[in-house]
Amino acid sequence: MLEVKQINQFYGGSHILRDVSFTAPMGACSVVLGRNGVGKTTFLKCLMGILPIKSGEILLNGKDISKMSPEQRVRAGLAYVPQGRDIFSTLTVEENILIGMAKFSGAKTKKVPSHLYEIFPVLDEMKHRRGGDLSGGQQQQLAIARALASEPSVLILDEPTEGIQPSIIKDIGRVIRKLADQGDMSIVLVEQFYDFAEEIADYYTVMSRGQVVAEGIGADMPAQGIKDLVAI
Ligand SMILES: Nc1ncnc2c1ncn2[C@@H]1O[C@H](COP(=O)(O)OP(=O)(O)OP(=O)(O)O)[C@@H](O)[C@H]1O
Ligand SMILES: [Mg+2]
Repeated sequence: MLEVKQINQFYGGSHILRDVSFTAPMGACSVVLGRNGVGKTTFLKCLMGILPIKSGEILLNGKDISKMSPEQRVRAGLAYVPQGRDIFSTLTVEENILIGMAKFSGAKTKKVPSHLYEIFPVLDEMKHRRGGDLSGGQQQQLAIARALASEPSVLILDEPTEGIQPSIIKDIGRVIRKLADQGDMSIVLVEQFYDFAEEIADYYTVMSRGQVVAEGIGADMPAQGIKDLVAI
């Protein structure tokens, strides 16, 4: 389980995250919602260690990881699917996935585990194609497969539905649900597509101007009027 306690983050003089606290339990999908520019991506970058926090704590299973480098956090069990996907367009699909396995050693780094291709059959069909030749939705699936290749205990996704066609959004939703239901992973999902978020959220957190302004269980989102709170 991932716990965040009152973290603060600044860009220069701008106070971007203000005492943000958050919990992502095992076996659940915890969704972070909020309008453009409220600090969602900054929050995830702080979780991964891409940006250092100014104050507060980030705990993984009770252990403070907030001083660790991004590489150390990946070794500790975090995996990140960044906004915009960031796959390597000149590398093949297979090579992209193998990059996600860099934390392992020996033979394990050389072969993509078959279960990843079972999760995303389209990647199996396209494994020798260049990443840049894939559609946006396929690239998103590739970015998720690359993250899963590190066998994470915390999977962090930044707006995986952004710019993706509805059929692939459904596929991605099914995969996230299945991963959460397996019970051995915490999922942190930043999402602006409200209907998708409501459908998949076990827990929700709403951010506004760098602060948490609402939180609760996913099933209560309609009654709490969360859609209006995050409407653009
Ligand atoms: N490198 C940076 N330097 C300075 N300010 C930044 C930087 N990155 C982001 N910001 C600002 O910090 C705030 C939070 O940005 P962030 O990207 O975390 O928002 P977001 O909630 O992810 O937005 P979106 O929904 O558009 O992805 C915004 O006001 C943004 O302009
Ligand atoms: Mg963002």
